[in-house]
Amino acid sequence: MEKALHTRNVLLGVCYYPEHWPQTMWEDDFRRMKELGLQYVRMAEFGWALMEPEEGVFDFSVFDRAFDLAHRHGLNIIVGTPTATPPAWLTHRYPDTLNAQANGISYEHGSRRHYTYNSSKFRELSARIVQRMAEHFADHPGIVGWQLDNEFNCEVSEFYSAADHAAFREWLQAKYGTLAALNEAWGTVFWSQTYTAWEQVHLTRNVPSDSPNPHLKLDEKRFFSDSVISYAQMQADIVRAAAPRHWVTTNGLFGHLDSHKLTDDMLDFFSYDSYPMFGRTFPDGGDNPLLDRRFSMSLSNVRSISPNFCIMEQQSGPGGWVNRIEQPSPKPGQLRLWTYQSIANGADLVVYFRWRTATFGTEMYWHGLHNWDNRPNRRTREVERIAEELRRAGQAIAGSRYEADVAILRDYDNEWDGEFDKWHGGYDWTSTLAWFKRLQRRHIPSDMLFLNEQTTLEQLNRYETLVYPHPTIMREETAKLLEAYVQGGGSLIIGCRSGYKDETGRCRMTPMPGPLAPLCGVTVEDFTRAEPDGSSPSFTLSTEAFDTFAAFSSNGFAETLAVTSANAEVLGRYDDSSYMSGEPALVENRTGEGRTIYFGGVFSDALVDQLIDRLNIASPAASLLELPEEIELTVRSQDKPMFEGQSNGLRIHFLLNYSNRPAAITVHCGATDLLTGNRFAVGTAEIEPYAALALVFDE
Ligand code: GAL
Repeated sequence: MEKALHTRNVLLGVCYYPEHWPQTMWEDDFRRMKELGLQYVRMAEFGWALMEPEEGVFDFSVFDRAFDLAHRHGLNIIVGTPTATPPAWLTHRYPDTLNAQANGISYEHGSRRHYTYNSSKFRELSARIVQRMAEHFADHPGIVGWQLDNEFNCEVSEFYSAADHAAFREWLQAKYGTLAALNEAWGTVFWSQTYTAWEQVHLTRNVPSDSPNPHLKLDEKRFFSDSVISYAQMQADIVRAAAPRHWVTTNGLFGHLDSHKLTDDMLDFFSYDSYPMFGRTFPDGGDNPLLDRRFSMSLSNVRSISPNFCIMEQQSGPGGWVNRIEQPSPKPGQLRLWTYQSIANGADLVVYFRWRTATFGTEMYWHGLHNWDNRPNRRTREVERIAEELRRAGQAIAGSRYEADVAILRDYDNEWDGEFDKWHGGYDWTSTLAWFKRLQRRHIPSDMLFLNEQTTLEQLNRYETLVYPHPTIMREETAKLLEAYVQGGGSLIIGCRSGYKDETGRCRMTPMPGPLAPLCGVTVEDFTRAEPDGSSPSFTLSTEAFDTFAAFSSNGFAETLAVTSANAEVLGRYDDSSYMSGEPALVENRTGEGRTIYFGGVFSDALVDQLIDRLNIASPAASLLELPEEIELTVRSQDKPMFEGQSNGLRIHFLLNYSNRPAAITVHCGATDLLTGNRFAVGTAEIEPYAALALVFDE
């Protein structure tokens, strides 16, 4: 079943911590939330010490009062289960509930997320608090849904307590059956790592050079992910049994967790916490970085889990912990811009973090909508405006789907293997970013599509072009699926370092790119990493196929290719500057109705631009709009008419101006901005710095 949020309107909410404020303030807070135009409030996710002040003694009175008041003011309540923050008595009495670092040192009480999913005591106590809460609140008329825990795997996504080592052994026994199979999969004959009894097997421990067995490292991450999923499943089962009327979600997106499986197994939809840092430069490499526009990439990942989703925490002020993370204030217009970035990318519910900045604790500089002084300010006024706009436009937007003809393929195995393996991991990030960035800047909406064993041809066929930058681990079945996609007419683009590992992360002895070789029509003959000074062989493109004489860098890794298919055409060759001179670097191979382009290097912005042209990938709005690069375009569509007099389904073109300067746009057809009601006549118009528009073109 599809795991999407279903609402009739795009709505707003806020995170609230009644336990941080005198009770005398609550009523005024809830009243003003409603006045501001918010409909949802999330509470309770860190309240365990209040709800169970002593072991087995339960007291929900703080939240009873807060929930009753919020409900009286017409707010919909999202309840968080409080397991991210176990009380001091719990970890003190049961220290085996604590997570540990790989060197064996335990995390301790005093921050949050210091527990381990695999402690049976922690599971028992978690199950009990969730059970009591769910029973207690099941019939509360204000509650609409539950958030499980808070940000599984945030802060810490590795688990090395005694309970984890033991659970890992059980997990491996279930996976491999025998030690012989485990030894084979992990190649333990290397350096005499062979295990002769299960007790000898551990997760990563303190090993010299910080270089444990790479196959163990891959299984370890699969195990961490499964640990979260089984722990979350326990909570979801309890909530669903006790409170069947409510939906269940959790907020991500964090490492070492297959959030797709998590969602498919137990959630109604996935939620995301979006924390753009208002202009901070991420180390995203290359010139012309995407800055916080890059959050659209994270939102694409979220959309691949739930096509319509909830933002459970949307950054709403300058943010920072006392001792880390220092972010500037959103400039006027940016709060609105990033709210619409979420909506333009598929969010139908946006919950701001948080109502008011805490006056104490680690996050007293993580500013919410209100500062400590609790007075209305330009941020609250901006939210008021958004709420007003959504009253006008929300119904038309809700449930509409993001449209894309291009998808960038990803999978968890390569992500997790690539974190440890420096011979492919970094390339994936560079290439994915180059593709995402150039598509973004050229107004070509794209999706992320995560491949797993359940992926179907039908899912791939929704896209005209698929880019799978560096799938080092490649299952034979996946290669077959990709072949069927190309046969049917799809265009597939693959980069270097592909196909040479199997699922254990062991290298194949067949020529690279392994099972992808027939489809790509090439084998890899020679290869090199970049030189210590960072340079790597350059190549030029065939001037018959491209309109340029420029030299392109292989950008960190270079493979020379031998053409093995009669239907292949060499599109680029290494130039005179290296010993690879004259050898193919870029090859296009035709299979059935489609084609595969194999590139023996790491993608750069400049090469991506050339490939976009070669593949004739155009903006879906090319005939309607001309936009400068600083504007992001997304299209969300309804398959049915939404307004009186409309005959076709509705297509909403979101325009997001990330620039601090006004931007000139040209419209070729009359349009209305759903958010403001403003009309755009055919011709050129100037839109404000940080503007967000939702244009509907005249039929
Ligand atoms: C999120 C978390 C919130 C708050 C926020 C700001 O990761 O879910 O509880 O900590 O960051 O730091």
